[in-house]
Amino acid sequence: MVALTSKQFERIAEIAMENWGLELTEKKRALVQNRLSTLLDKSDYKSAEQYLTHLQSEASEEDMLVFFDMLSTNTTSFFREPDHFDHLRDEVFPKFEAARRGTKVRIWSAACSIGCEPYTIAMHAKRHVSNLKDLDLKILATDLSNSALDKARLGVYPAKMVDCLKPDLRAEFFEPRQIQNRRSIEPGYQIHHSIRAMVSIHQLNLMDKWPMRGPFDVIFLRNVMIYFNRDTRERLVRRMYDLLAPDGVFYIGSAESISGLNTKFRSVRSAVYTK
Ligand SMILES: C[S@@+](CC[C@H](N)C(=O)[O-])C[C@H]1O[C@@H](n2cnc3c(N)ncnc32)[C@H](O)[C@@H]1O
Repeated sequence: MVALTSKQFERIAEIAMENWGLELTEKKRALVQNRLSTLLDKSDYKSAEQYLTHLQSEASEEDMLVFFDMLSTNTTSFFREPDHFDHLRDEVFPKFEAARRGTKVRIWSAACSIGCEPYTIAMHAKRHVSNLKDLDLKILATDLSNSALDKARLGVYPAKMVDCLKPDLRAEFFEPRQIQNRRSIEPGYQIHHSIRAMVSIHQLNLMDKWPMRGPFDVIFLRNVMIYFNRDTRERLVRRMYDLLAPDGVFYIGSAESISGLNTKFRSVRSAVYTK
C-alpha cells in the first residue's frame, strides 16, 4: 500500500478542501492511502508523488473528477432515513394537493449520488400526491461524481438494493435487468421510465456558483455535510436558505446538524427545517 508522507497527505487535503470543500483530517489518512493505492495500481503513474505533481500542475477536469471519486463516498439507498419520507407524505404532500392546477413544485436532491434519493421522492410522490398529473412537479438531482451520475441516469441497481423494498413498490416501479459486470452477470432492476422522467440529473459542485435560481419547495441535502468543515457547512446552508421558498422544507442527514450555524432556518423536527 502507498505510504503517504505528512507533506503529501497535506497536499491531498488541500486539493480536496479547495476544490470540493471536503475536509480530510488525519483520521482519514488510512482510507486515503488505501484508495490511492487502488487508483495507482490501475494507472501508469509510478508513485504517489508523480500523481500528485500531475494533479497540481497539468490535471484536466476529468483527472480531477477521478481524484474526487477516489476521495468521496457514494453510500445511499432507497427510502434512506424513512422518517423524512413520512414527513414528506404527511406534512408536505397535502400542501401540494391543496395547490391550484398547474402549480409549479420544485424539489432538489443535492448530492444525489447514484439516484436512490431523487427516485424515492418521485416514487413517493407518484403514490401519495393524488393530483400529481395536475401539478408541474419537477425533481432536480445533482452531484459532482460522474460515475455516480452515470448510474443515476441509467437507473439500474443490484437486486440487493431493491429486494428489501416492499413487493408492491418493487412490482410497480422496477423492472428486472441483468447487470453485466467485468467478469460476471448479476441480477438487478431498472427503475421505471415514468419515474426517471420525473427527475432531471445534472452535474454540480456544491462549492461552485449554481445556475439555478429557485425557489425550491423542498431541498434534500443529506449525508454530505459530514464531509465539510463548519465554515463550509454554514456557507452552504445559507445558500440553500436563499434558494428555498418561504415555508419550504429543508432535509439534512440524521447524523448531521446545523445547530450552532449562523442561519435563519427554523427547526421543525430532527433533521427537518423550514424557512
Ligand atoms: C453519502 S452520499 C449521499 C447521498 C444521498 N444524499 C443520501 O443521503 O443517501 C454523498 C454524496 O455527496 C457528493 N458530494 C461530495 N462533495 C460534493 C460536492 N462538493 N459537490 C457535489 N457533490 C458532492 C458525493 O459525490 C456523494 O455522491
